[in-house]
Amino acid sequence: MIYKTLAVSAASLVRKGLVNNFSRNMSSGRFLVYVTRSDMPECGIELLKKQCEVKTWKDAAPVPREEFLKGVAGVDAIYCSLNEKIDQEVLDAAGPQLKVIGTISVGHDHIDLTECRKRGIRIGYTPDVLTDATAELTMALLLATSRRLPEAQHDAKTGGWVSWAPQYMTGPGLNGATVGMVGFGRIGQAVARRVKSFNTAKILYFSRSERVEAKEVGAIKVNFEELLRESDFVIVCAPLVPETKEMFNKSAFEKMKCSAVFVNTSRGALVDQDALIYALENNIIWGAGLDVTTPEPLPLDSPLFKLKNCVVLPHIGSATFGTRNTMSELTASNILAALNGTKMPAELK
Ligand code: DGY
Repeated sequence: MIYKTLAVSAASLVRKGLVNNFSRNMSSGRFLVYVTRSDMPECGIELLKKQCEVKTWKDAAPVPREEFLKGVAGVDAIYCSLNEKIDQEVLDAAGPQLKVIGTISVGHDHIDLTECRKRGIRIGYTPDVLTDATAELTMALLLATSRRLPEAQHDAKTGGWVSWAPQYMTGPGLNGATVGMVGFGRIGQAVARRVKSFNTAKILYFSRSERVEAKEVGAIKVNFEELLRESDFVIVCAPLVPETKEMFNKSAFEKMKCSAVFVNTSRGALVDQDALIYALENNIIWGAGLDVTTPEPLPLDSPLFKLKNCVVLPHIGSATFGTRNTMSELTASNILAALNGTKMPAELK
């Protein structure tokens, strides 16, 4: 059990009038954690409940901003997902006793890191545990796009399957192809290992730094333009940071082969979506598989949903039973460690 004598003394803040919403954790003497939705995997929430008071948003849907701002007042920790923007306004609404943000994601572009650091708020995230699930989904999306699985199934179910036909539902194969990886971190490497097993000719990668892990799959570091020009498949696994925002713009798509397949399982904002729509509509590239879009969810009237050469998934990269449970446990462990003043299993530095 962790008590509030550690870290900042919340009680003294309340006494000084700095924080006014402490009733629940003050009464129990335990730390108070705000959880942003009711359907977070139970295993993590149970871990928290053993040591903390847990206040959970009532719905299995992202908490509305106004409710979020009200809900976090006076809490010691926030267990959130990529749906919640954690910015100055949220940190102010929480108050100076806030010690840690635990996000159930490896991506952290929804969190204002600078502001958290300035205030001494620690951040926990979930690297490693979702690498394999995300790599598997990336392969599934790549193959669904190149081998036209959604289109083919729709045809089969709606009478379009007239006979076996030599040119029917053909698409590019991975065997003998050149695959370009944009981003070669944990997920990029895991995708590259899987790609290699499909007997590809070459794997290229674009990354800020040379990666020793590239040797294992024989991946060659190239510049961005070379990767775009040479690749039959371009797979995006880079994080969203200011330098990668909309790196896939009109000019990038124009450099790609008109037979190329573009796959993004990272963040939608790496892509200028209008430029992608234009490239798909005008056969500047052959097809795209997207697990991430801007915005999310993608509005039903988005042109991307009308394009036969685009497969859109609802951001399910890490969605295996086991992975989501492990992510929840890790998020809880991060929070507990920070509240306890000890080393967090996965702290964002
Ligand atoms: C992440 O963790 O950042 C993924 O996008 C969702 O699991």
